[in-house]
Amino acid sequence: MHEEVSHPCIQHKLALIRDKDTGHKEFRELATEITMFVCYEALRNLRLKDVEVETPLTTTGAQMIDEQIVVVPILRAGVGMLDGILSLVPSARVGFVGLERDEDTAEASTYYEKFPWQVSDGLTIIVDPMLATGGSTVSAIDMLKKAGAKRIIVACIVTCPDGLAAVHDAHPDVRVYAASIDPELNAQKYIVPGLGDAGDRLYGTV
Ligand code: PRP
Ligand code: URA
Repeated sequence: MHEEVSHPCIQHKLALIRDKDTGHKEFRELATEITMFVCYEALRNLRLKDVEVETPLTTTGAQMIDEQIVVVPILRAGVGMLDGILSLVPSARVGFVGLERDEDTAEASTYYEKFPWQVSDGLTIIVDPMLATGGSTVSAIDMLKKAGAKRIIVACIVTCPDGLAAVHDAHPDVRVYAASIDPELNAQKYIVPGLGDAGDRLYGTV
């Protein structure tokens, strides 16, 4: 299950973030802005509760979010999506997964894990700008399910058919939202056309 969140404003920002001459400051800003658009759509089905609000003129019925939300960025590039999603759901709790791909094999290994216990209660959203082979996302979902998470979605900026298939095969219950589904992976398992190395571009470590 996946959804490509398409909109002229996202297309415009994707063109800018893909550009190799976009520096880390602008890359970070664009990652935050694109995240807001993708997550706006990903959070469309949040449960609401009825409340009563007193406006300056009268009392009226209104609705507020009625879910425990846990956001889980995959370190390190996933942190580049944290400000964007927290601006939509500021009271969300945050857990972290540390995963790093081996440069030669592209296999992800875990170096950190810390989740609030509420993962077992509400909606968990994994954020990572790149879903390439899907290895990192599948590992993060494995870890979250082991910690008790029952409802998980994934928000990314760029993915590709191989990565989506890997997540779907391992976890068919998890829906992935992306700003772009790019055509393919290259021999080094980078998404093409992609953004390059998102962690390096976010943090200026190139
Ligand atoms: C990147 C990216 C994803 C992963 C995607 O992280 O942010 O986590 O690779 O690749 P996959 O789908 O093939 O697993 P990386 O391991 O380079 O670490 P970083 O975020 O610290 O740069
Ligand atoms: N990690 C990245 O940062 N970019 C890719 O294209 C693949 C993995």
